[in-house]
Amino acid sequence: MSTTEDIIGRTDINDLEAILSITNTDVDAIAHAVDQHADAIFTWDYDKGHRTALNKLYEKAKRSQWNAETDLPWETEVDQSAVVMANANQFGGFAVGMDLTGTPFAKWDEKEWVQLGIESQNWTLSQFMHGEQGALICTAKIVESVPWIDAKYYAATQVMDEARHVEVFAKYLDTKLSGHYPINAHLRLLLDDIIRDSRWDMTYLGMQIMVEGLALAAFGFIHQLTTEPLLKQLLRYVMSDEARHVAFGVLSLQEYYQELTNAELRERQEFAFEAAVRMRDRFLQQEVWDRMGVDVKEAVQLVMQAPDRMLFQQMLFSKIVPNCKKLGLIDAGDGWLREKFTELGVIAFENWEDTGSEYDAFALTDADQRSA
Ligand SMILES: [Fe+2]
Ligand SMILES: [Fe+2]
Repeated sequence: MSTTEDIIGRTDINDLEAILSITNTDVDAIAHAVDQHADAIFTWDYDKGHRTALNKLYEKAKRSQWNAETDLPWETEVDQSAVVMANANQFGGFAVGMDLTGTPFAKWDEKEWVQLGIESQNWTLSQFMHGEQGALICTAKIVESVPWIDAKYYAATQVMDEARHVEVFAKYLDTKLSGHYPINAHLRLLLDDIIRDSRWDMTYLGMQIMVEGLALAAFGFIHQLTTEPLLKQLLRYVMSDEARHVAFGVLSLQEYYQELTNAELRERQEFAFEAAVRMRDRFLQQEVWDRMGVDVKEAVQLVMQAPDRMLFQQMLFSKIVPNCKKLGLIDAGDGWLREKFTELGVIAFENWEDTGSEYDAFALTDADQRSA
């Protein structure tokens, strides 16, 4: 059993100094190699549909493919400053409800707030794009490493979905926004750990349950809030796929975890905790503060006190926690993960709806497709 320090490299999960000390210094690199340590598994059992739920998901995925080039209204003009203003106006302006006296933001005028909004969009969409590439690679790895034919079939459709997701986020960044950010160091640490692990189920836990669970919640949040119609539509399309991906994780691991011992489950609990902390740390968007020329630590401390920030951060875990519960991970052994999720302030989501079958609710309707 590992200590918190073994798992995340620090004893206090809220140690801001330690969190901010992890930065990406490799920003000019064009490629990044990770050793993936896993066996490629052939199966000679071609009995399609043996795992009914996975087979149903595979058939659904085949009927739900869309074309990123032709199904989205790319002709939409995006004025990034106007979008930032319109988004902020929904909440009555910038930094509403915050006391900025004595902070670097006290002197900011509208121009700087708009610039922050623009950088923040560039950063957010860039991290989504990098995360999608992580999903592309992880799911290709699942095709190779999972021993079940129904799962290989399904994962193959997800590989195609993820290619489309990388494609749409990259295209949106290049044609509608104003610059890329390199991958956040916390996100990269997490993706590297997922890919490096030799056990096939760890890829699912890291990617389908944790990263995609968070992505589904984050996309949903932005889909609801954005006033920009192309981004809204794009996220709607991506979410219809993501809901299947998270279901794929839940359905596969549910079966596999039944065979595991408490000691093996503890390793999965520790991995889920590590992933949760890395994802929370990445949302501090330290690179944006740096680019805005403000003291990163000061800015992050202030943002963490913003009234809606806590809510946003917790909402990100609204899919992950019920899914971990459905998999039996929260209370396995001595309930170690329950303690950790309590420490992170996200345990309250445990009884929310899990995502094992929610994908039908996210499916694209004729109306969605007609409006494209
Ligand atoms: Fe995706
Ligand atoms: Fe996905």
